[in-house]
Amino acid sequence: MQQPVIGVIGGSGLYEIEGLTDVQEVVLETPFGAPSDAFITGNLAGAKMVFLPRHGRGHRFLPSEVNYRANIYGMKKLGVEQIISVSAVGSMKEEIVPGHIVIPDQFFDRTQGKRASTFFGNGVVGHVQFADPICGELADILADSAQQVGATVHKGGTYICIEGPNFSTRAESNIYRNWGVDIIGMTNVPESRLAREAEICYGTVALATDYDCWHEGHDDVSVEAVIAIIQQNVAKAREIIKAAVEKIVAQRSERDCECSSSLQFAVMTDKS
Ligand code: ADE
Repeated sequence: MQQPVIGVIGGSGLYEIEGLTDVQEVVLETPFGAPSDAFITGNLAGAKMVFLPRHGRGHRFLPSEVNYRANIYGMKKLGVEQIISVSAVGSMKEEIVPGHIVIPDQFFDRTQGKRASTFFGNGVVGHVQFADPICGELADILADSAQQVGATVHKGGTYICIEGPNFSTRAESNIYRNWGVDIIGMTNVPESRLAREAEICYGTVALATDYDCWHEGHDDVSVEAVIAIIQQNVAKAREIIKAAVEKIVAQRSERDCECSSSLQFAVMTDKS
């Protein structure tokens, strides 16, 4: 069985992964333009790793400015079959306390159509299934890994993706809570759509950093508070990644999840 090739897209605060050997920087141009940064490749615990900081080193791209198509295209080109997305999020539920980890299983899109988030178009029409946007098998591994390293983990939950870059108003935050979402962030929806179109499994390790602005007993979200919680938990995020990679290597078998064949019946355009 071939070595697995695992992608990690690091969010705010995760700009590298520790313990990589044979590290190389791969600069790629894609038909969709430049990715957020050079890809960092290397080996970890028996897997080939491809790491990309979502916002670029130095955190230079807004959530709306990230070139998601170039990022996912680059991952595919480098052979990635599974992407672990690491993302800071706000908590929309009392029981998801800042510092906890959530492994979401659903997304709700509140971006405003500004982000290029399909590889289809320009003469090729396709529609992939997206009822379950997260790979269930990868989510199981991520949840088990978070538990193994001693994190408090919530398995399942809906991530609402807003355009940003501003955080939400109090009215929005309360309405989103009434809709029943669990966490709020700004990046995962375009990424997960494109990963599905690229037949790459996608799973998210979401670190709750704040209670957005709905919680009367807590301060409203601020960059300062988000960074403080990230700094306290970045080591835990790295441990989760390493544990997940070890499990993927140990369980290595051909992928039989739906993500791996999402294009099979998706394309409507004549091939002739
Ligand atoms: N990322 C971290 N906290 C957030 C929040 N409250 N809203 C949107 N994105 C976030």
